[in-house]
This record gives sequence, structure tokens and C-alpha cells, in this order.
Amino acid sequence: MFIDDISNNQEKFKVSFINEINDLQLPTFVIYVTNSVLGSESLTEEFESLPLPCNCESLCKETCACSAKVNMYLDGKLSESYNNSIGPIVECSDFCTCISTCPNRVVQHGLQFSLDVFLTERTGFGVRSKEFIPKYSFVCEYAGEIIDEHEAELRLKKQSSGESNYIYVIKEHISNNKCIKTIIDPTFVGNVGRYLNHSCSPNLFSVPVRVGSMIPKVCFFAKENILPLVELTYNYGEKCTADGNSSKCARKCQCQSLNCCGYLPFVDENWIT
Ligand SMILES: C[S@@+](CC[C@H](N)C(=O)[O-])C[C@H]1O[C@@H](n2cnc3c(N)ncnc32)[C@H](O)[C@@H]1O
Ligand SMILES: [Zn+2]
Ligand SMILES: [Zn+2]
Ligand SMILES: [Zn+2]
Repeated sequence: MFIDDISNNQEKFKVSFINEINDLQLPTFVIYVTNSVLGSESLTEEFESLPLPCNCESLCKETCACSAKVNMYLDGKLSESYNNSIGPIVECSDFCTCISTCPNRVVQHGLQFSLDVFLTERTGFGVRSKEFIPKYSFVCEYAGEIIDEHEAELRLKKQSSGESNYIYVIKEHISNNKCIKTIIDPTFVGNVGRYLNHSCSPNLFSVPVRVGSMIPKVCFFAKENILPLVELTYNYGEKCTADGNSSKCARKCQCQSLNCCGYLPFVDENWIT
């Protein structure tokens, strides 16, 4: 089973599908998008404001208003000094006066490596890279439908316990105890990110990035140097402390890492709120 490019040329690098185990195909109902789409009118208002652009000439430096005086990126990768307490990354965009090679533009240029969606031995479909990925490189985004809490709860209720869950909730803590919550569901409309599996010892981590819009892009970066054909994974949630009887972590984790906690960080009724 092989598909040369499941993105149909929408991505800069091919995203191939390969199943060397059986004749299972990818779900045909998934519409491939490279950026998240708003799932309802009400959300349009919520994300209507725009990040303020900079008026730098040519290439932005540390003083650029977009990068908030902190170098989030270095040589097209996340800077070693990045930590998410610095705040979200805001890249320069079409509204800025700098040029497209400005160093504060990374994830907006899209994929940098050719990826495979493949059938894993234990965890359904997964993702791997055909090429070596250096530490701190941008790997891919988690794109899907942006939905509200009510819709997310409806969708979760409809899921049976054995079904894959794709809903991703980002909670960004901003000043005075305020929190911005964004919910992404790539179940029906999504990109390669929907096929990333969980590991208790992952090789990717996520960072919210904004590019000319207040809708956060959930972007995965390499935690370490990653060899070709090694499965790409991230940690789906907070530490899993479950004993298996808890509804939070009912599903057995198959990541097989030495520090596997045994269960997938999973959802309960308080997960979305
Ligand atoms: C976002 S999807 C990942 C792609 C999925 N494997 C597929 O075939 O479409 C999340 C689902 O994958 C499965 N999964 C991911 N990581 C896993 C792990 N470490 N152990 C067991 N199942 C896992 C679970 O069914 C989970 O609900
Ligand atoms: Zn710039
Ligand atoms: Zn700018
Ligand atoms: Zn595990």
C-alpha cells in the first residue's frame, strides 16, 4: 500500500503513505489541509484581532516588535534558550515590512523534511521522517478544525472507548491568571500531525506559534537529533499517574519506552474545561 503524497502537493515536502504490514488504507474521509480552519462562525469573532506587525527593514533583529526582543529562533531552528515561560512565539507575517527570509519566520515556510505516514506494529498509523532531523528543527504542525468546548464535548460523547481520539486542547496562560483555550480536532479535516502517536519518552515537543493571526498553530519541534525512519512522537498530556482503574488513563500505552507509565494520558470530563 503506497500513496506518493497524501497532501496532494499542498505541503512543500511529500507526505507519503506506506503500509508494509497489511492492506489497511488511510481513512478516506480525512480532508488534508496545511493550516487549521475555523469550525464555526462564533469562533471567527474570537480570533478576529491580529498580532501587531513590525516595521523593520529587510531582516529583523532582536529589537523587532514581533519577536518581543527575544531570539526565539536561531538558524531556522528553535533557539536552545527557548522556554515557554517566555510566552508564545509570534512570527513576522505579510503585515510586517521585513522580507520572507527574515529569521523570525520559520513555521510559516512549512515542512522541511519529507515525512511518511506508516502502519506501526502496535499503535495504528504513525509518522516518521525519511531524513535526519537535527535537534530543535520544526517538524510539522497539528492542523485541524478549531472547535468550541460544546462541540468538542459532543464529539467526544459520540466516540466509542476503543476509538482513536484526535482532539488537542491548548491552554495558554497569559497575564492576570487569564488562560486562552484553543481546541483543535483533525478527525475529519487535518494534516500529517493527526497521525503522530504518543510516547512517554517522546522525540518531539509542541510550541504555540502565531503567524499573522491570533489562531495558535501547534508546532512540533525535535527534542533531539532524530535518525531517519525513527517514529516521531510527542507526549499527549500531563504526567500519567493512573493505576488503570481511573477513567483518565484507561487505555494501555504501547510506547514501549523504558519509562512508560503504562497508560495513555487520556480524557475525563474535566479535560476540555
Ligand atoms: C492522534 S491519534 C494518532 C494516530 C493513530 N495511531 C491513527 O492510527 O490514526 C491518537 C490515537 O492513537 C492511538 N495511540 C497513540 N499513541 C499510542 C500509544 N502510545 N499507545 C497506544 N495507543 C496509542 C490511540 O488510539 C489514540 O487515541
Ligand atoms: Zn521580520
Ligand atoms: Zn514582524
Ligand atoms: Zn508509554
